[in-house]
Amino acid sequence: GIDRDLLVVSNRLPDFRHIEGDEGVERKKNVGGLVSALEPALRARGGMWLGWSGRTVPDTDTVESGVIDDRTAQLAWFDYKESWYRDYYSGFCNGTLWPLFHSFPSRVTLSDKGWDAYKEVHEVIAEVASGHIGSRAMIWVHDYHLLMLANVMRRRGHTGPMGHFLHIPFPSLDMFSMLPWAAQILDAMLDFDLLGFHTPAHVANFLSCASSLLPAKVADDVVSHRGRITHVAAMPIGILPDTFQEPPEPAIVEEIDGLMRALGESQLVLGVDRLDYTKGIPERLIAFGRLLEMFPEWRGKVSLVQVSVPSRADVPLYAEQRASIETIVGRINGEFGEAAWVPIRYLYRSYSKAQLSQLYRAARVGYVTPLRDGMNLVAKEYVAAQDPENPGVLLLSQFAGAAVEMRDAILTNPYHADGMARDLDRALRVDLPERKARHGKLLASVQRSNAVTWAEGFLDALSACR
Ligand code: UDP
Ligand code: G6P
Repeated sequence: GIDRDLLVVSNRLPDFRHIEGDEGVERKKNVGGLVSALEPALRARGGMWLGWSGRTVPDTDTVESGVIDDRTAQLAWFDYKESWYRDYYSGFCNGTLWPLFHSFPSRVTLSDKGWDAYKEVHEVIAEVASGHIGSRAMIWVHDYHLLMLANVMRRRGHTGPMGHFLHIPFPSLDMFSMLPWAAQILDAMLDFDLLGFHTPAHVANFLSCASSLLPAKVADDVVSHRGRITHVAAMPIGILPDTFQEPPEPAIVEEIDGLMRALGESQLVLGVDRLDYTKGIPERLIAFGRLLEMFPEWRGKVSLVQVSVPSRADVPLYAEQRASIETIVGRINGEFGEAAWVPIRYLYRSYSKAQLSQLYRAARVGYVTPLRDGMNLVAKEYVAAQDPENPGVLLLSQFAGAAVEMRDAILTNPYHADGMARDLDRALRVDLPERKARHGKLLASVQRSNAVTWAEGFLDALSACR
């Protein structure tokens, strides 16, 4: 049901919507961990969800906003101005905060224009939010796009509980200090009542930044600053594992069977990510090439399918990453391919959840090797989708947040190509009893906290703060 006592705010909504009079609503699913986790959570809980429509309008126009009813929740949307798309979304959010929070200092760009846009967008979103809820309602804000929303809402007189969940890592003090606006952002974050992170390490980083860069007092999981109190907690996000076991439609079975026929006798090694430099896709491809060099017995016996979903293509680093991936795929296929065997199949597109479930299930190895990741839901989904009688093996980066909970994966260091090639060889050789044993423990960990219990846990903790 509709619950105006709760407003959820994130930059992304579950679909792209273009609301065009008579033509109705055109919908295209958005891809990313935030949407994957929040959609089922909100479907269970109800409430209003506010975010970007996916549309940009010229800077000279006034920014439109509105509400549509959805099976998930009431979806409230606002448009971007073109300058926000450039300076806020591509600029400050994805050119400054994203690389910084993922610990890629050399990829960070700093500009005053980006910072100004970040503040401006917060003001506008706060105004839209205030139009939808009363000043005592609960607000749950998501991710690095909106770190300062509580501060702006408090200035506007909002007294209700406000919590924030960060879906990406929180970086170490030396990294975070690179940001000229570090203290201002921390100060504003402490207007939330509750700050949630994926792992205890992210919590520790946040606390060390708060105690070093602000005159804030930190005791256990509580920060006192300017006479108010903020609770800080690690709350790893989850999925709904059963939904990856749903029987597929015949058309999907046919599609995946077609792919498996094309692979012939080869074992399937599968990578699935947004095309993002944090995901370690070039490193993964290079290590796969090293496998074929170091263990030539795998030639013709194993194929890598890499699904890369188009993402943030207007940020220059993403276009460069795409070009470098395509070069590496071409080089490895040229070097090792045979008339009857293609080592790497690279798919620059997105798949539905139902399609992904079947792909995951068909893969002998889930090859999940980010250089840095807040959590990584693909790792959990891969486990949830397996046939328990004949499960595949998860090869997981030690630098994914998911590695904290998923100790029964084969953990690997994506920076070390030779080591990762050896780990891949090992993953391909795990026998059935060990595969079942590892999978059983991993599945138990994925079932322990799911998307719905995660959201309930957050909202309960937020209520308890007051
Ligand atoms: N995903 C999808 N279609 C695709 C590829 C990925 O729907 O073709 C989903 C995937 O199921 C997962 C999410 O995108 O739920 C990616 O989340 P993750 O936490 O792994 O990474 P993020 O994209 O948030 O960095
Ligand atoms: C990550 C971020 C989300 C974001 C998603 C997709 O999961 O944590 O906030 O929505 O990537 O990125 P995009 O820029 O398309 O929203």
